[in-house]
Amino acid sequence: MLSFDDYANDNATESSTKKEAPQPQLQPAPAPVASTPKVAAVRTEEVMDFTPVTQNITIAPAIPAEAGGPGLTGVEEIAFNSSRINVDDKRIINCRADLNQLVPFKYEWAWQKYLDACANHWMPQEISMSRDIALWKDPNGLTDDERLIVKRNLGFFSTADSLVANNLVLAIYRHITNPECRQYLLRQSFEEAVHTHAYQYIIESLGLDEGEIFNMYREVPSIHAKDVFELQFTQELSDPEFVTGTEAADRRFLRNLIGYYIIMEGLFFYVGFVQMLSFGRQNKMTGASEQFQYILRDESMHLNFGVDLINSIKMENPNLWTPEFEQEIIELVLEGVQLEQQYAVDTMPRGVLGLNTDMFTEYLRFIANRRLRQIGIPEQFPGAKNPFPWMSEMIDLKKEKNFFETRVIDYQTGGALAWD
Ligand SMILES: [Fe+2]
Ligand SMILES: [Fe+2]
Repeated sequence: MLSFDDYANDNATESSTKKEAPQPQLQPAPAPVASTPKVAAVRTEEVMDFTPVTQNITIAPAIPAEAGGPGLTGVEEIAFNSSRINVDDKRIINCRADLNQLVPFKYEWAWQKYLDACANHWMPQEISMSRDIALWKDPNGLTDDERLIVKRNLGFFSTADSLVANNLVLAIYRHITNPECRQYLLRQSFEEAVHTHAYQYIIESLGLDEGEIFNMYREVPSIHAKDVFELQFTQELSDPEFVTGTEAADRRFLRNLIGYYIIMEGLFFYVGFVQMLSFGRQNKMTGASEQFQYILRDESMHLNFGVDLINSIKMENPNLWTPEFEQEIIELVLEGVQLEQQYAVDTMPRGVLGLNTDMFTEYLRFIANRRLRQIGIPEQFPGAKNPFPWMSEMIDLKKEKNFFETRVIDYQTGGALAWD
């Protein structure tokens, strides 16, 4: 059985000592072109018309790995016929070794998560929404409180996955200097697009007001507050002037990873997951509930990848993890718990579906404890219990089970998943 603590970080390695290195020279952006002339299609033979190189091509780092400082990006000049990559030079941040050679593997856990994620492939249209549509259109099908839960969760999630995807491609990716981890980030980015697709598919199926749902992150205070909290982390790193390679910058980078993997995907998604999956447990909104179940499975992998990533960076750069930094993280997580509690109240002002806000308060404390423990920080809510033990079964979804008797195509073609 998969649990949040299953992925240890025993593949991570100890760090090497960081030294000062010259800062990269930022190149001025090219001036915008006033009008783009129409470009004729390029014939394949033109592209292929080059003199084949028969020698072995090797790609070398522009600066030795031990130089430290900010890492490469992967788009540097390709030095011809220079020395080959050394696996020991690979590092998750601030790596000076070639970023375009996936192998030799150093971080097998990242590659394995990429393979597992591909084996879990699914698409929203595979799940029938017909029962949901009938129930939603029946004036007596759902109570007003139940409809509010569905709409507010779609309101939060429909834009939240865009925020996560933006953070991945516009903030994190550039500073992760390891191809195994980048491979997973690319897969994760696609999954976030699938999730946004799933919410759009539900919204369209139910005939909801798209403007109302997609604008909730601007118009519903508790949703807005969570997203503003997250956006600060993206804005810090997406600044073109931002580079890693100093302790202060590397801590900002870690703050971003914790802000997204631990708080956004590990805390802010979980009230919504419990609420939406509770519908399915009561045989209501079974299509939407199943979509959320697949999303939960993906998100639990994103979280586990994030935990391994954070802990690996921590092990490679122990100087970053000071008591002050740890306290800063605790305060961020506690703020996250408060924001998510308010979201629970806003989505469910009255008890419904066998749930109430007191249960969510306890659940968030329980989850916060787990998340902190996963990155080596002491629990802040001693004795908190899980009021929803069934959630762990939901994460263990096996696609071939056809959980809610809806049709699902199994994409798993490689080795079987070892969830148990
Ligand atoms: Fe997602
Ligand atoms: Fe995610």
